[in-house]
Amino acid sequence: MTEPKSASTRVLKVRDLRVYYETPKGDVLAVNGIDFDLYEGETLGLVGESGSGKSTAAMGILQLVVPPGRIVSGEVLLEGQSILGLPDEALRQIRWAKLALIPQGAMNSLNPTMKVSEQIKDVILAHEGKEAKKEIKARILELLSTVGLPGRVYDMYPHELSGGMKQRVCIAMAIALSPTVIVADESTSALDVVVQRVVAQTLLAVKRKLGVSMIMIGHDMGLMAQMVDRVAVMYAGKIVEIAPVQDIFIDPKHPYSQLLIASVPSLKERKPLKITEGITHDPRNPPPGCIFQLRCPFVMDKCRVQTPPMQEVKPDQLVACHLYEKTEDGSFINVRDVVGNT
Ligand SMILES: Nc1ncnc2c1ncn2[C@@H]1O[C@H](COP(=O)(O)OP(=O)(O)OP(=O)(O)O)[C@@H](O)[C@H]1O
Ligand SMILES: [Mg+2]
Repeated sequence: MTEPKSASTRVLKVRDLRVYYETPKGDVLAVNGIDFDLYEGETLGLVGESGSGKSTAAMGILQLVVPPGRIVSGEVLLEGQSILGLPDEALRQIRWAKLALIPQGAMNSLNPTMKVSEQIKDVILAHEGKEAKKEIKARILELLSTVGLPGRVYDMYPHELSGGMKQRVCIAMAIALSPTVIVADESTSALDVVVQRVVAQTLLAVKRKLGVSMIMIGHDMGLMAQMVDRVAVMYAGKIVEIAPVQDIFIDPKHPYSQLLIASVPSLKERKPLKITEGITHDPRNPPPGCIFQLRCPFVMDKCRVQTPPMQEVKPDQLVACHLYEKTEDGSFINVRDVVGNT
Protein backbone atom coordinates (compact mmCIF):
# COMPACT_ATOMS: atom_id res chain seq x y z
CA MET A 1 0.00 0.00 0.00
CA THR A 2 2.72 2.46 0.95
CA GLU A 3 5.75 3.03 -1.22
CA PRO A 4 8.53 5.39 -0.22
CA LYS A 5 7.07 8.85 -0.59
CA SER A 6 10.16 10.09 -2.38
CA ALA A 7 9.15 7.78 -5.26
CA SER A 8 5.68 9.29 -5.72
CA THR A 9 4.39 12.42 -7.39
CA ARG A 10 3.46 15.19 -5.01
CA VAL A 11 0.13 16.85 -5.81
CA LEU A 12 -0.19 19.15 -2.82
CA LYS A 13 2.51 20.78 -0.77
CA VAL A 14 1.65 22.75 2.35
CA ARG A 15 4.34 24.69 4.18
CA ASP A 16 4.18 26.74 7.37
CA LEU A 17 0.45 27.36 7.03
CA ARG A 18 -0.84 29.59 9.82
CA VAL A 19 -4.47 30.54 10.28
CA TYR A 20 -5.53 32.63 13.26
CA TYR A 21 -8.92 33.84 14.52
CA GLU A 22 -9.14 37.30 15.97
CA THR A 23 -11.00 37.47 19.28
CA PRO A 24 -11.35 40.30 21.81
CA LYS A 25 -8.84 38.51 24.05
CA GLY A 26 -6.23 37.99 21.33
CA ASP A 27 -5.68 35.70 18.35
CA VAL A 28 -6.59 32.01 18.57
CA LEU A 29 -3.64 30.25 16.90
CA ALA A 30 -5.89 27.62 15.32
CA VAL A 31 -3.37 26.41 12.72
CA ASN A 32 0.09 27.33 13.82
CA GLY A 33 2.60 26.35 11.16
CA ILE A 34 1.79 23.03 9.53
CA ASP A 35 3.78 21.26 6.83
CA PHE A 36 2.78 18.22 4.85
CA ASP A 37 2.70 16.75 1.35
CA LEU A 38 -0.04 14.81 -0.37
CA TYR A 39 0.94 12.33 -3.06
CA GLU A 40 -0.82 11.20 -6.19
CA GLY A 41 -3.60 8.72 -5.48
CA GLU A 42 -3.02 8.61 -1.74
CA THR A 43 -5.45 9.13 1.10
CA LEU A 44 -4.04 11.08 4.00
CA GLY A 45 -5.96 10.99 7.25
CA LEU A 46 -5.91 14.16 9.35
CA VAL A 47 -6.78 13.27 12.93
CA GLY A 48 -6.77 15.05 16.25
CA GLU A 49 -9.19 15.96 18.95
CA SER A 50 -11.91 18.57 18.66
CA GLY A 51 -10.46 22.06 18.35
CA SER A 52 -7.04 20.87 17.14
CA GLY A 53 -7.47 22.89 13.94
CA LYS A 54 -8.37 20.26 11.33
CA SER A 55 -11.25 22.15 9.72
CA THR A 56 -9.34 25.42 9.90
CA ALA A 57 -6.43 23.74 8.09
CA ALA A 58 -8.84 22.56 5.37
CA MET A 59 -10.29 26.05 5.01
CA GLY A 60 -6.77 27.47 4.90
CA ILE A 61 -5.70 25.12 2.11
CA LEU A 62 -8.77 26.03 0.05
CA GLN A 63 -8.51 29.66 1.09
CA LEU A 64 -12.03 29.74 2.35
CA VAL A 65 -11.08 31.35 5.65
CA VAL A 66 -13.47 34.17 6.52
CA PRO A 67 -13.25 36.80 9.29
CA PRO A 68 -12.61 36.67 12.18
CA GLY A 69 -10.19 34.13 10.69
CA ARG A 70 -7.23 35.07 8.52
CA ILE A 71 -4.35 33.30 6.82
CA VAL A 72 -1.27 34.69 8.49
CA SER A 73 1.39 32.93 6.43
CA GLY A 74 2.18 29.86 4.46
CA GLU A 75 2.62 28.29 1.11
CA VAL A 76 0.16 25.98 -0.65
CA LEU A 77 1.24 24.45 -3.94
CA LEU A 78 -1.23 22.46 -6.01
CA GLU A 79 0.52 20.44 -8.72
CA GLY A 80 3.41 22.84 -8.38
CA GLN A 81 1.30 26.00 -8.67
CA SER A 82 1.25 28.37 -5.73
CA ILE A 83 -2.38 29.08 -4.87
CA LEU A 84 -2.14 31.13 -1.69
CA GLY A 85 -3.04 34.68 -2.49
CA LEU A 86 -4.33 34.04 -6.03
CA PRO A 87 -7.07 36.45 -7.12
CA ASP A 88 -10.64 35.34 -6.34
CA GLU A 89 -11.52 34.45 -9.93
CA ALA A 90 -8.47 32.21 -10.34
CA LEU A 91 -9.28 30.54 -7.03
CA ARG A 92 -12.87 30.02 -8.07
CA GLN A 93 -11.63 28.14 -11.14
CA ILE A 94 -9.42 25.90 -9.04
CA ARG A 95 -11.99 25.08 -6.37
CA TRP A 96 -14.21 22.15 -7.35
CA ALA A 97 -12.32 21.69 -10.62
CA LYS A 98 -8.96 20.82 -9.03
CA LEU A 99 -9.38 21.07 -5.30
CA ALA A 100 -12.76 20.10 -3.88
CA LEU A 101 -13.93 20.35 -0.29
CA ILE A 102 -16.70 18.39 1.33
CA PRO A 103 -17.09 20.69 4.34
CA GLN A 104 -17.86 19.52 7.86
CA GLY A 105 -21.66 19.24 8.12
CA ALA A 106 -22.03 19.54 4.33
CA MET A 107 -25.13 17.38 4.22
CA ASN A 108 -26.96 19.89 6.38
CA SER A 109 -26.07 22.72 4.02
CA LEU A 110 -27.76 21.26 0.95
CA ASN A 111 -30.40 23.66 -0.29
CA PRO A 112 -33.75 22.27 0.95
CA THR A 113 -35.70 23.96 -1.84
CA MET A 114 -33.72 22.54 -4.76
CA LYS A 115 -33.74 19.05 -6.22
CA VAL A 116 -30.51 17.09 -5.94
CA SER A 117 -29.97 17.25 -9.71
CA GLU A 118 -30.29 21.05 -9.73
CA GLN A 119 -27.68 21.41 -7.02
CA ILE A 120 -25.19 19.21 -8.86
CA LYS A 121 -26.05 20.98 -12.12
CA ASP A 122 -25.23 24.36 -10.51
CA VAL A 123 -21.71 23.19 -9.69
CA ILE A 124 -21.10 21.98 -13.24
CA LEU A 125 -22.62 24.99 -15.01
CA ALA A 126 -20.84 27.49 -12.77
CA HIS A 127 -17.54 26.10 -14.02
CA GLU A 128 -18.18 24.87 -17.51
CA GLY A 129 -20.85 27.32 -18.61
CA LYS A 130 -23.83 26.57 -20.84
CA GLU A 131 -21.69 24.28 -23.03
CA ALA A 132 -22.09 21.57 -20.44
CA LYS A 133 -25.88 21.60 -20.70
CA LYS A 134 -26.33 19.02 -23.47
CA GLU A 135 -25.17 15.90 -21.77
CA ILE A 136 -25.67 17.14 -18.25
CA LYS A 137 -28.46 14.77 -17.21
CA ALA A 138 -26.42 11.73 -18.21
CA ARG A 139 -23.44 13.13 -16.35
CA ILE A 140 -25.44 13.67 -13.16
CA LEU A 141 -26.92 10.17 -13.36
CA GLU A 142 -23.41 8.79 -13.80
CA LEU A 143 -22.21 10.76 -10.77
CA LEU A 144 -25.10 9.44 -8.68
CA SER A 145 -24.28 5.92 -9.76
CA THR A 146 -20.57 6.42 -8.91
CA VAL A 147 -21.54 7.27 -5.32
CA GLY A 148 -23.93 4.32 -5.19
CA LEU A 149 -27.20 6.24 -5.37
CA PRO A 150 -30.15 5.11 -7.52
CA GLY A 151 -31.27 7.24 -10.46
CA ARG A 152 -34.49 8.24 -8.72
CA VAL A 153 -32.46 10.48 -6.38
CA TYR A 154 -32.05 12.81 -9.40
CA ASP A 155 -35.54 14.22 -8.85
CA MET A 156 -35.56 14.12 -5.07
CA TYR A 157 -35.19 16.91 -2.51
CA PRO A 158 -32.67 16.69 0.36
CA HIS A 159 -35.40 16.13 2.98
CA GLU A 160 -36.44 12.95 1.17
CA LEU A 161 -32.98 11.43 1.68
CA SER A 162 -31.36 9.72 4.66
CA GLY A 163 -28.18 11.18 6.18
CA GLY A 164 -25.98 8.68 4.36
CA MET A 165 -27.65 9.45 1.03
CA LYS A 166 -27.26 13.21 1.58
CA GLN A 167 -23.60 12.71 2.39
CA ARG A 168 -23.21 10.76 -0.86
CA VAL A 169 -24.86 13.62 -2.77
CA CYS A 170 -22.17 15.89 -1.28
CA ILE A 171 -19.51 13.46 -2.52
CA ALA A 172 -21.13 13.48 -5.98
CA MET A 173 -20.93 17.29 -6.00
CA ALA A 174 -17.29 17.18 -4.95
CA ILE A 175 -16.34 14.85 -7.82
CA ALA A 176 -18.55 16.53 -10.44
CA LEU A 177 -15.58 18.26 -12.08
CA SER A 178 -13.05 15.43 -11.57
CA PRO A 179 -10.79 17.23 -9.11
CA THR A 180 -7.19 16.24 -8.41
CA VAL A 181 -7.61 16.55 -4.64
CA ILE A 182 -10.65 16.08 -2.41
CA VAL A 183 -10.69 17.26 1.19
CA ALA A 184 -13.42 15.40 3.09
CA ASP A 185 -14.00 17.00 6.49
CA GLU A 186 -15.71 14.57 8.89
CA SER A 187 -17.78 13.12 6.07
CA THR A 188 -18.68 10.10 8.16
CA SER A 189 -19.36 11.82 11.48
CA ALA A 190 -22.92 12.35 12.70
CA LEU A 191 -24.03 9.14 10.96
CA ASP A 192 -24.77 5.83 12.59
CA VAL A 193 -22.02 3.25 12.52
CA VAL A 194 -23.27 1.16 9.60
CA VAL A 195 -23.98 4.21 7.44
CA GLN A 196 -20.55 5.62 8.37
CA ARG A 197 -18.97 2.52 6.85
CA VAL A 198 -21.11 2.83 3.72
CA VAL A 199 -20.10 6.46 3.23
CA ALA A 200 -16.45 5.59 3.92
CA GLN A 201 -16.63 2.78 1.34
CA THR A 202 -18.19 5.22 -1.12
CA LEU A 203 -15.30 7.63 -0.64
CA LEU A 204 -12.81 4.82 -1.21
CA ALA A 205 -14.63 3.55 -4.29
CA VAL A 206 -14.70 7.07 -5.73
CA LYS A 207 -11.04 7.52 -4.98
CA ARG A 208 -10.15 4.30 -6.77
CA LYS A 209 -12.38 5.02 -9.76
CA LEU A 210 -11.15 8.57 -10.27
CA GLY A 211 -7.61 8.14 -8.96
CA VAL A 212 -7.93 11.31 -6.89
CA SER A 213 -5.82 12.13 -3.87
CA MET A 214 -7.75 12.67 -0.68
CA ILE A 215 -7.37 14.30 2.69
CA MET A 216 -9.78 12.62 5.04
CA ILE A 217 -10.42 14.50 8.24
CA GLY A 218 -11.89 12.50 11.10
CA HIS A 219 -11.93 11.33 14.68
CA ASP A 220 -12.56 7.64 14.23
CA MET A 221 -9.17 5.94 14.36
CA GLY A 222 -10.75 2.55 13.59
CA LEU A 223 -12.20 3.87 10.36
CA MET A 224 -8.92 5.62 9.53
CA ALA A 225 -7.06 2.34 9.88
CA GLN A 226 -9.13 0.87 7.07
CA MET A 227 -9.29 3.90 4.84
CA VAL A 228 -6.06 5.84 4.68
CA ASP A 229 -2.48 5.32 3.52
CA ARG A 230 -0.87 7.80 5.89
CA VAL A 231 -2.00 9.64 8.99
CA ALA A 232 -1.13 13.16 10.11
CA VAL A 233 -1.80 13.70 13.81
CA MET A 234 -2.73 17.25 14.79
CA TYR A 235 -2.57 18.70 18.27
CA ALA A 236 -3.41 22.33 19.09
CA GLY A 237 -2.66 23.74 15.66
CA LYS A 238 0.45 21.67 14.90
CA ILE A 239 1.11 18.38 13.13
CA VAL A 240 3.04 16.34 15.69
CA GLU A 241 3.46 13.14 13.68
CA ILE A 242 2.92 12.02 10.12
CA ALA A 243 3.49 8.42 9.08
CA PRO A 244 2.17 5.44 7.12
CA VAL A 245 -1.01 4.18 8.79
CA GLN A 246 0.51 0.89 9.96
CA ASP A 247 3.37 2.71 11.71
CA ILE A 248 0.94 5.04 13.48
CA PHE A 249 -1.05 2.05 14.76
CA ILE A 250 1.78 -0.37 15.52
CA ASP A 251 4.57 1.97 16.51
CA PRO A 252 3.31 5.50 17.20
CA LYS A 253 6.25 7.70 18.15
CA HIS A 254 4.74 10.91 19.49
CA PRO A 255 3.35 10.63 23.04
CA TYR A 256 0.09 12.20 21.80
CA SER A 257 -0.21 9.65 18.95
CA GLN A 258 0.43 6.95 21.56
CA LEU A 259 -2.40 8.33 23.66
CA LEU A 260 -4.74 8.44 20.65
CA ILE A 261 -3.98 4.84 19.74
CA ALA A 262 -4.36 3.71 23.36
CA SER A 263 -7.83 5.30 23.32
CA VAL A 264 -9.06 3.01 20.53
CA PRO A 265 -11.28 0.41 22.20
CA SER A 266 -10.40 -3.22 21.55
CA LEU A 267 -12.47 -6.35 22.15
CA LYS A 268 -9.48 -8.66 22.06
CA GLU A 269 -7.65 -6.84 24.75
CA ARG A 270 -10.02 -5.43 27.35
CA LYS A 271 -8.00 -2.69 28.91
CA PRO A 272 -9.25 0.36 30.78
CA LEU A 273 -9.84 3.16 28.30
CA LYS A 274 -7.33 5.96 28.47
CA ILE A 275 -9.37 9.06 29.02
CA THR A 276 -7.82 12.00 27.25
CA GLU A 277 -8.69 15.30 28.79
CA GLY A 278 -8.58 17.66 25.79
CA ILE A 279 -6.31 20.56 24.95
CA THR A 280 -5.41 22.13 28.28
CA HIS A 281 -3.73 25.41 27.36
CA ASP A 282 -5.39 28.61 26.16
CA PRO A 283 -5.23 28.45 22.32
CA ARG A 284 -4.44 32.19 22.35
CA ASN A 285 -1.40 31.65 24.46
CA PRO A 286 0.38 28.37 23.74
CA PRO A 287 3.35 27.57 25.97
CA PRO A 288 6.86 28.08 24.54
CA GLY A 289 8.56 24.86 23.43
CA CYS A 290 6.58 21.74 22.69
CA ILE A 291 2.82 22.21 22.24
CA PHE A 292 2.06 18.94 24.08
CA GLN A 293 4.25 19.54 27.15
CA LEU A 294 1.37 20.17 29.58
CA ARG A 295 -0.09 16.71 28.94
CA CYS A 296 3.02 14.76 28.04
CA PRO A 297 3.90 11.93 30.43
CA PHE A 298 7.55 12.15 29.34
CA VAL A 299 8.05 15.92 29.48
CA MET A 300 11.69 17.06 29.88
CA ASP A 301 13.17 20.48 30.66
CA LYS A 302 14.07 20.98 27.00
CA CYS A 303 10.40 20.59 25.99
CA ARG A 304 9.51 23.73 27.94
CA VAL A 305 11.85 25.94 25.96
CA GLN A 306 12.60 24.49 22.54
CA THR A 307 10.06 23.72 19.85
CA PRO A 308 10.86 20.20 18.62
CA PRO A 309 11.64 20.07 14.88
CA MET A 310 10.02 17.48 12.59
CA GLN A 311 12.48 14.61 12.19
CA GLU A 312 12.23 11.53 9.98
CA VAL A 313 12.92 8.96 12.69
CA LYS A 314 12.10 6.03 10.41
CA PRO A 315 11.59 6.04 6.63
CA ASP A 316 8.45 8.13 6.03
CA GLN A 317 7.70 8.46 9.76
CA LEU A 318 8.11 12.07 10.81
CA VAL A 319 7.70 13.16 14.41
CA ALA A 320 8.15 16.43 16.28
CA CYS A 321 9.35 15.29 19.69
CA HIS A 322 12.51 15.78 21.74
CA LEU A 323 12.43 12.14 22.83
CA TYR A 324 14.05 11.16 19.54
CA GLU A 325 17.69 11.97 18.99
CA LYS A 326 19.87 11.28 16.01
CA THR A 327 22.89 9.08 16.66
CA GLU A 328 26.22 9.14 14.86
CA ASP A 329 25.18 6.41 12.43
CA GLY A 330 22.14 8.49 11.39
CA SER A 331 19.54 6.33 13.15
CA PHE A 332 17.34 7.66 15.94
CA ILE A 333 17.09 6.55 19.54
CA ASN A 334 14.46 7.27 22.13
CA VAL A 335 16.36 9.02 24.91
CA ARG A 336 14.23 7.17 27.48
CA ASP A 337 15.76 3.91 26.27
CA VAL A 338 19.20 5.15 27.25
CA VAL A 339 20.21 3.96 30.72
CA GLY A 340 19.93 6.72 33.29
CA ASN A 341 17.21 8.61 31.44
CA THR A 342 14.18 6.55 32.36
N1 LIG B 1 -14.83 31.72 14.20
C1 LIG B 1 -13.97 31.42 15.17
N2 LIG B 1 -13.59 32.34 16.09
C2 LIG B 1 -12.70 32.07 17.06
N3 LIG B 1 -12.11 30.85 17.21
C3 LIG B 1 -12.46 29.89 16.33
C4 LIG B 1 -13.41 30.11 15.28
N4 LIG B 1 -13.55 28.96 14.59
C5 LIG B 1 -12.74 28.06 15.18
N5 LIG B 1 -12.09 28.61 16.23
C6 LIG B 1 -11.10 27.98 17.12
O1 LIG B 1 -10.06 27.44 16.32
C7 LIG B 1 -9.59 26.22 16.86
C8 LIG B 1 -9.63 25.15 15.78
O2 LIG B 1 -10.98 24.90 15.41
P1 LIG B 1 -11.37 23.86 14.26
O3 LIG B 1 -12.84 23.97 14.05
O4 LIG B 1 -10.48 24.05 13.10
O5 LIG B 1 -11.03 22.48 14.97
P2 LIG B 1 -11.35 20.98 14.49
O6 LIG B 1 -10.10 20.21 14.72
O7 LIG B 1 -11.92 20.99 13.12
O8 LIG B 1 -12.46 20.53 15.55
P3 LIG B 1 -13.68 19.49 15.38
O9 LIG B 1 -13.05 18.14 15.48
O10 LIG B 1 -14.55 19.79 16.55
O11 LIG B 1 -14.34 19.73 14.07
C9 LIG B 1 -10.44 25.94 18.09
O12 LIG B 1 -9.75 26.41 19.22
C10 LIG B 1 -11.68 26.77 17.84
O13 LIG B 1 -12.28 27.15 19.06
MG1 LIG C 1 -13.70 20.33 12.33
